[in-house]
Parts: sequence; structure tokens; C-alpha cells
Amino acid sequence: MSKQDSSRSDRRQFLRSSAAVAVASGSMIGSTALAAGFHHSVDDKLRVGLIGCGGRGTGAAIDACGADSNVALVAIADAFPDRVKTCARQLSRAFEEKFGTAAKEKLDLPEERQFVGLDSYRWVIDCGVDVVILAQPPYFRPASLKAAVEAGKHVFCEKPIAVDVPGVLSVIDTCQNAKDVNIVSGLCWRYDLGVRATMDKIKEGAIGPIVNIQANYLTGELWHRGNDPAWTPLEYQIRNWVYYNWLSGDIPAEQHIHTLDKALWLMDDVPPARCYSTGGRQKRTGEKWGNVYDHFATCFEWDNGVRCFSYCRQQKGCFNENEAHAWGYQGNAKILAHRIENSHGVWRYDGPKPSMYQVEHEHLFRAIRSGEKINNGDYMCKSTLMALMARNACYTGKMITWVEMLQDKTVLGPKSLDEHDYQPDPVPIPGE
Ligand SMILES: NC(=O)c1ccc[n+]([C@@H]2O[C@H](COP(=O)([O-])OP(=O)(O)OC[C@H]3O[C@@H](n4cnc5c(N)ncnc54)[C@H](O)[C@@H]3O)[C@@H](O)[C@H]2O)c1
Repeated sequence: MSKQDSSRSDRRQFLRSSAAVAVASGSMIGSTALAAGFHHSVDDKLRVGLIGCGGRGTGAAIDACGADSNVALVAIADAFPDRVKTCARQLSRAFEEKFGTAAKEKLDLPEERQFVGLDSYRWVIDCGVDVVILAQPPYFRPASLKAAVEAGKHVFCEKPIAVDVPGVLSVIDTCQNAKDVNIVSGLCWRYDLGVRATMDKIKEGAIGPIVNIQANYLTGELWHRGNDPAWTPLEYQIRNWVYYNWLSGDIPAEQHIHTLDKALWLMDDVPPARCYSTGGRQKRTGEKWGNVYDHFATCFEWDNGVRCFSYCRQQKGCFNENEAHAWGYQGNAKILAHRIENSHGVWRYDGPKPSMYQVEHEHLFRAIRSGEKINNGDYMCKSTLMALMARNACYTGKMITWVEMLQDKTVLGPKSLDEHDYQPDPVPIPGE
């Protein structure tokens, strides 16, 4: 066996779905996790576990611990040990900066509660946490959300919630059964005070009934994490997950969903009846860029005649805009600019502008303390489905209805996470 083969074989071992290991000892986690578990009801501390140690997860963990005076981050998990280690280091620095002397109480992360593996979410859920943050790639969300809710954990759940319709249906089911826990979605603009105030004015009739919406997410390129000969094809894809539609859902789901969710919100959370779409890949054409497109233009239609024209693009050197525009019979609005114009003149939100990322966690922890229940399941599932409908309409070149979409049984990704040589589907060609 060559050095490269033997290194890949080692990686197959650690990536095996059942082989989560503690970073420090490399030991099987089962006993470690039990030994590290907490006993409940001895204090009113809320214990948080993070699943997915990337940029968003790290940020969300800090926000969670800033949302309540008695919250601690006590466990983290990632598919890869280097990501766990980097995250633990970054958290330690960030907590000291943000919380000063309280950092020691707020960050309680011994190495036996730093978990590694594709199924490491299980160990976080089982180690006695009260709240879990789901910030791994979207493909893994439905199973981990289900496990968290079944174990009675409150959840902060990043967007999108799935990459295919069976995944969305699983999350709908999970959310409907989540009677005793809170589920707060990472569709963060729903917690932005300026956006909320603008939406409130629109709902009060400031622009009259909506005629059209334009939902833009036109932006530059994303990161790429390179390749390492020791990585298996599966590991390479998971490391570079944004470029694989089975892991990310493609741009409409992974990024544009923020703007599509605003369109849904403008329509009182009534989903569109149908859509058609055009798009493709012009700049990210090589194998390195997986099987996602780099631009989409989609027209959503509602049964009452309203249309949403939606554009997303990830290409550098081009015009950029992240905005949801709405036109009504009596005026127009730019939602992210917090601006409404009608015959009375221009209204702009001038209230406080705290970080929406902080506000969403404040809502979550306040609800946990008060016994109130927040369940953002309805809109987080609908906006994910809206995004997947646009993606599928673009990939196939067909008009797709909401009803047809709900019947789509396609499951993306490998049959098992043990398929280390898994090859992704080819880039879809519309009409074929
Ligand atoms: N709400 C927002 O504004 C916002 C912003 C950025 C990202 N996000 C979302 O947050 C999620 C994470 O994005 P990111 O930017 O942090 O990406 P990232 O790549 O920086 O982080 C994802 C992490 O998950 C890890 N991971 C992969 N498979 C895993 C598994 N099975 N179990 C545990 N960990 C696993 C990866 O190794 C990586 O460290 C995505 O769903 C993304 O769409 C939301």
C-alpha cells in the first residue's frame, strides 16, 4: 500500500459514521461522552453544544453565550479534527475578548467534549446539553435536527434546513412534533429590527397590496479549501461543501434563501404556486467547482398574480446587490435599506440596530427561560422548499409547481457515508 493509500485508509476509519472520536484521546467516544455528561437541575445554567465548527457556528456559539447571563458552551463537534482544534482556539480568544473574567464560566470545553466525526452530533446531543446549534453543511441538518428534538433539546438551526424534498419533509415532521422545545431559525433577517419594522409598515398597508417583488442576491466568489492527497473523494467534497448540490443545495438554498425568505414573508408566508428558471455556470466551470451553478434567474408566481423575479450570482467583478424590492399599488419598498416610498413621501427606519445574530439568540434564550415556545419551522421549511423549487426548475428547464415539488422523491448524496469514493452527480443540463 502506498503512503497515500494508507493515509486515505486511516481517514476512512475516522470518518466512518459510527467512529466519532474525542480530539484529545482518539478514543471511542461512547464511554467518554457518558462520563462527561452533566446532571441536570443542579443549577439554572443553560448548556450549549455546537455542531459544525466553521465561521457561522463559531459566531453563533459566541452570540448564544452573550444572550443570557448564565449560558456556557460545553461541547463542540465537527467532521474534522483540525476544524475542531481551530474553533476551540478561536473561541478561547473570542470569549476572553468579549466576556473578560466571565469567559472561564462561559467556555467549558475540555477535550473530552470536543467531538469529531460525521455523526458527532450524536455525542453532543447525548452529553447533557440543553441547547444545540446546528451549523454543519445543510445535507446533515434533517437527521441532526430530528435527533436533537427527540432528545428534548432546544435548537438554533442554520439555514437551509435540507438539500432535497425528502429532507424538507423530515424537518416539517420534526418541527410539528417539537412541542416542548424551541426551534429558532438562522434566517436571521426575520430578527433584524429594521427589517421587521419595514415589514410591519408594509403589512399595515404602507405600499398597498403587493404587485411584484424582486429578490436579488448578487455577490462575489466564495472560499475554496483546496485539496490534500490524503483526503478521500468524500472528504474533499465535504471540505468544499458549497460546491456540491447534495451538500449545500446550490446557491438558491445555501445563500439566496435569505432573500427568497423575505419574498415569502412579504407574501404572508404563502408559498408560490409555481416557478421557472434559467441559469448555469459561466466562470466556475472546472471540476474543482463541483456540480453547482454560478447564477440563477427565477420567476416565481403566486395564484393571485403576484410575481417575484429573483436573481442570484456568485461571480467576481460584477454588479452586486443583496436586496428585496417590493412594489405595491400605492408605493414601493427596499426591505434591507429599511425604506418605503409612497404618496406621503419617504419613510426610513431610524430605530436601534443591534446585531440580528445577537437578537435571534436573545429571543431563543428568553423563550427557554420564560417557557414561551418559538417554532420557526413553518417559514424555514417553506423558504428552503422555495429555493429547491427554483434550483430544480433551473436544472430541468421545466416549470415546476409547488404541488409537484412536494412529491419529488429524489434523495441527493451517497447511499451511505461510508462511500468514500462517492462521485457527485454530473452538472445538470437544462432540458436533458
Ligand atoms: N445565517 C447566516 O447568515 C449564515 C451565514 C453563513 C453561513 N450560514 C449557514 O451556516 C452553515 C455553516 O456555514 P459556514 O459558513 O459556517 O461553513 P463552514 O464550512 O465554515 O463550516 C461548516 C463546518 O461544518 C463541518 N462539518 C461538515 N460535515 C459535518 C458533520 N457531518 N458534522 C459536523 N460538522 C460537519 C465542516 O468541517 C465545517 O467546519 C451553512 O448551512 C450555511 O448556509 C448561515
